[in-house]
Amino acid sequence: MGVLSEHVIEEIRGLPAQFPDIRSAVMPALDLAQEHVGYLSPEAMSEVAELLKLDPGYVQGVATFYTLFHTEPVGKHRMYLCTNISCKLRGADDLLAHAMQSVGVGGQSEVSADGLFSVEAVECLGACEYAPMMRLDHSYHYDLTAEKIDALIAERKNVLPIHGEVPAKPAEGPPAAPAKPARKRAAAPRKKKADA
Ligand code: FES
Repeated sequence: MGVLSEHVIEEIRGLPAQFPDIRSAVMPALDLAQEHVGYLSPEAMSEVAELLKLDPGYVQGVATFYTLFHTEPVGKHRMYLCTNISCKLRGADDLLAHAMQSVGVGGQSEVSADGLFSVEAVECLGACEYAPMMRLDHSYHYDLTAEKIDALIAERKNVLPIHGEVPAKPAEGPPAAPAKPARKRAAAPRKKKADA
């Protein structure tokens, strides 16, 4: 018996019809498998390869190339803090250290003792104008502070209710810029990206 549910299997089977090249279906398929299993175990990757009729080595290669895919167990909630230049200049390294300390992990490969959290430093997530920022599961969080991180952790621990969040896009290649948050900007605006 496989590790993927019938529902996930059906979704993955439907992916190739959405792309001109079946290999383009690998990332959304891996995203579905990871969401279902919690991480990309060898069995999960093997099933994805079989469902898409692709070489298992190719699927594994994709899974190990992108940082948003995990081939080892991770926390139920994954915090991806951007530490690229814009976020770094606005304190991302300190926030990364704070997040790790707050959930009680000593490294990026660790899972918190309660199994709830893991923390990772990642490259630019395409929301530089709202730096520092992070992705938490499927939501982006902007203008990050230590206090905001602690509140998000408390929400996930069911200490505080989860309030409105900005949904992140599923993994479909390098992370794309998220939609801007539906809220007013602060009175002193930061430099905006130039119009295309
Ligand atoms: S540098 Fe952090 S989102 Fe771009």
